[in-house]
Amino acid sequence: MDILKIKGPTKLFGSVKINGSKNASLPIMASALLTEGKSTIKQVPFLSDIAVCSELLRHLGCKVERDGDGNISIDATTIDNTVGEYEIVCRMRASICILGPLLARCGQAKVSMPGGCAIGDRPVDIHLRGLKALGAKIHLRNGYIIAKAENGLRGNEIFLGGPFGSTVLGTANVLMAATMAKGKTVIESAACEPEITDLAGFLTKMGAKITGIGSPRLTIEGVKQLKPVEYKVIPDRIEAGTFMVAASITKGQLKLENCELEHMMAVVDKLRSIGVIVEAAKNGCEVYRKGQIKTAELTTQSYPGFPTDLQAQFMALLALGKGNSVIIEKIFPDRFMHVAELNRMAANLRKEGPAVIISGVKKLVAAPVMASDLRASAALVLAAMAAEGTTTISRVYHIDRGYEKIEERLNPVGAKITRENI
Ligand code: EPU
Repeated sequence: MDILKIKGPTKLFGSVKINGSKNASLPIMASALLTEGKSTIKQVPFLSDIAVCSELLRHLGCKVERDGDGNISIDATTIDNTVGEYEIVCRMRASICILGPLLARCGQAKVSMPGGCAIGDRPVDIHLRGLKALGAKIHLRNGYIIAKAENGLRGNEIFLGGPFGSTVLGTANVLMAATMAKGKTVIESAACEPEITDLAGFLTKMGAKITGIGSPRLTIEGVKQLKPVEYKVIPDRIEAGTFMVAASITKGQLKLENCELEHMMAVVDKLRSIGVIVEAAKNGCEVYRKGQIKTAELTTQSYPGFPTDLQAQFMALLALGKGNSVIIEKIFPDRFMHVAELNRMAANLRKEGPAVIISGVKKLVAAPVMASDLRASAALVLAAMAAEGTTTISRVYHIDRGYEKIEERLNPVGAKITRENI
């Protein structure tokens, strides 16, 4: 098992290139299942989740190859298996994304129920509701979702809203399935996240007929066949936001290249409100701070609201704010595993239901801490770079799921991070 040792406090200065988006790549890779032939997806990050997704597609019969430049080619000419096994799905929840395309292409799919994780229960009832509305017969047995559409899928009007708003991967699943359903599908309360817009861009290039892209109402005219294509995924807005916090928390200055500020308005607005300067630059931005971090009230929401995937990182930053801040988590109300760990580093955080009250402290102090999920571990890395002393973070496989070689990205700009295998 790897651990990270992070010596602080450090200041980060220099330039970082943002990688392609993990959460855009995963459903786009799954949608390659919709057609025979070889699709090439560019700017795919080198992450363990991408490796798991490649393994899953290979199990289904696809030929998946990747080169050293971030291109992944997926040849889905032959699909000789329609089962997403528990052993793979339990390693990556986004495996559920194969359900929609397998149903559309093969008329059947059997996929392990993903189950909960460190950030909450994470049900998939809305995915199933949407696919049922398209005519799929679905039942659950022995922990598996068994879906059949022997006579093909049929377009329908589908409301996809749930108790916490829209669902990102649920929208992806229903959208992918609807591209080849007979007739017209309207998805109301579709997720508007840039990753869904990117998926719709990929599907459109394949020949799908989708209107309303980027809005909560997607209209899809089913087509008989799609074709394989080449496509470049968007830059990772969550990675970019994490590096923005890295510049802010260390009181350094980072230039972020390949950063799409258009996708980050809520994040940039929040940073500016607490005294961080974010200046647009060619193909990216400069981020730095002059004074002390101010306080904030922050509520996570579906896009274009503030993303839940940056909640933990902002909590680390606001822990050093001048006064009291509040963070309310409206997407995953239990996504607070980082609270106790940040408190071990001398933060002053108090959880009250789906909210955390943050009493700003003057400094953070190193401690041994444990990563619990991907974004929580990013928050610990950020806090550790600002804290006094050497922090040890265990279970760093969580961070490798979403950040490509984090120490190799941060050390060239001034961080002091070593990885040890224990
Ligand atoms: N929900 C339901 N029923 C469903 C589906 C979702 O009640 O059938 C609820 C969830 O429990 C949650 C809310 O709806 O309360 C939103 O969940 P959503 O379905 O949008 O999450 P997801 O699609 O499973 C993706 C990202 C997450 C990100 C969320 C929210 C990928 C691979 N994952 O998950 O990313 O937090 O959207 O934006 O795209 C991460 O990258 O660290 C990560 C967890």
